Amino acid sequence: MTDVIAIMSMSLDGYVAGPDGDVMGVFAWYFGSGDVAVEAGGSDPMTFTMSEPSAQHFHELTSGLGALITGRRTFETAQGWGGNHAWGPAFVLAHEVPEGWPRPESTVHFVTDGIESAVRQAQAAAGRKSVAVHGADTIQQCLDAGLLDYLQVDVAAILLGGGVRLFDHLTDAPAILGNPTVVEGVGVTHLRYPVRTDQP
Ligand SMILES: NC(=O)c1ccc[n+]([C@@H]2O[C@H](COP(=O)([O-])OP(=O)(O)OC[C@H]3O[C@@H](n4cnc5c(N)ncnc54)[C@H](OP(=O)(O)O)[C@@H]3O)[C@@H](O)[C@H]2O)c1
Repeated sequence: MTDVIAIMSMSLDGYVAGPDGDVMGVFAWYFGSGDVAVEAGGSDPMTFTMSEPSAQHFHELTSGLGALITGRRTFETAQGWGGNHAWGPAFVLAHEVPEGWPRPESTVHFVTDGIESAVRQAQAAAGRKSVAVHGADTIQQCLDAGLLDYLQVDVAAILLGGGVRLFDHLTDAPAILGNPTVVEGVGVTHLRYPVRTDQP
């Protein structure tokens, strides 16, 4: 079975976006934390410039991904990634399929029958690779349903003071995590926690 990995950049005080949805504060490490150029891929290609440890971490993580699950707000904010996300087919949770979608030549799919279905479809698409989960609401649903294997949190060196919290509506707290692996970047610390399933 492929791993399901939540991947988010988060401020030290727990926000993944500011009050107006702005992500540039938590994404600053992608843009100028060093001089290693990293091509993001997808049909909306971008070049990141990061420190060597972050670039190596990012490459190792993303080369193991075969599909993505996210929520409609992340899809809208990213303007549908130009139709093809860099990490593979994207399964977007939504109550209704947005107008004008799905599009020909696009690997963005809409899932209207819940998180379990999204995980099932993404795992089938990912083959032997892992499934990434993006978006706070979507990640909370995965945690609550016991569907997450790892939490990859890139803790950005910023305090946002408000905005979209990553862990706001957990129904099954406390959730005990395993020991993290730690990669120190510049302006960011990459933490990867196994989500333990042997909790009492
Ligand atoms: N820091 C980072 O690494 C990072 C990464 C990605 C995104 N972000 C930011 O995070 C914010 C978005 O996160 P979010 O938590 O607000 O939203 P989200 O998880 O992206 O999307 C939530 C929306 O998805 C739909 N949805 C979720 N679960 C569903 C279900 N089970 N059934 C049907 N529809 C479902 C609903 O949309 P409808 O009701 O409209 O159908 C819901 O309002 C944005 O500001 C984005 O820029 C940050």
